[in-house]
Amino acid sequence: NDLQVATSKEQLEWERLNKLQEEELKKLEEEKLKVELKPVTTPSSNTCSNTIINGILLVNKKYCLTSNYGGVNATAKKNLDNLIANAKSDGINLKIISGYRSYAYQKTVYDGWVKSLGEKEADKVSAKPGHSEHQTGLAYDLGGKSCDLSTCFGDTKEGKWVASNAHKYGFIIRYPNGKTSITGYSYEPWHLRYVGIEHAKSIYEQKISLEEYLGV
Ligand code: DAL
Ligand code: ZN
Repeated sequence: NDLQVATSKEQLEWERLNKLQEEELKKLEEEKLKVELKPVTTPSSNTCSNTIINGILLVNKKYCLTSNYGGVNATAKKNLDNLIANAKSDGINLKIISGYRSYAYQKTVYDGWVKSLGEKEADKVSAKPGHSEHQTGLAYDLGGKSCDLSTCFGDTKEGKWVASNAHKYGFIIRYPNGKTSITGYSYEPWHLRYVGIEHAKSIYEQKISLEEYLGV
């Protein structure tokens, strides 16, 4: 009768919903597993050891920092302030776009690039957490009037001033043009790394990357 039909319809519907819920739960479990597995596939921070070679802290795709390492470096900042002040007296206006970034903040920055470019492209322009020089407090991104964080910054008068004067303040252009296969990153005329005046002068004069200078 009608009542029985209704009941068995209800029964079927109930079974259908139960199955859906089961599938949904299974999907959620799989997602959770993916998330939990993720950190295992990224470089694990316990293999990172804040390597210093010839007095220079080396951070790149191979050498990384422990997650608790870092902070603003007073010597680097003082030298950068000098650089900016002297640029200004030469009629060159430079601004700090980015300086010290914590491990956690670098993760946010890197994840953002992965979202917009995908991991392969992101890895050419952004460091994985623990692998950024910004975490050392020794690196600064500088900008001018135009071409901020673009390769064309190197062609602006601000970028040219930085390229020919940064070494006098202990900074090097860390990711030079044509050195991508060695540094692992695209040309970044805006990213300065403090290594001290002696080292910076030598690296500048030899026109080499930090990796070549340290022989790694
Ligand atoms: N853009 C440089 C590679 C960094 O993320 O530290
Ligand atoms: Zn940078």
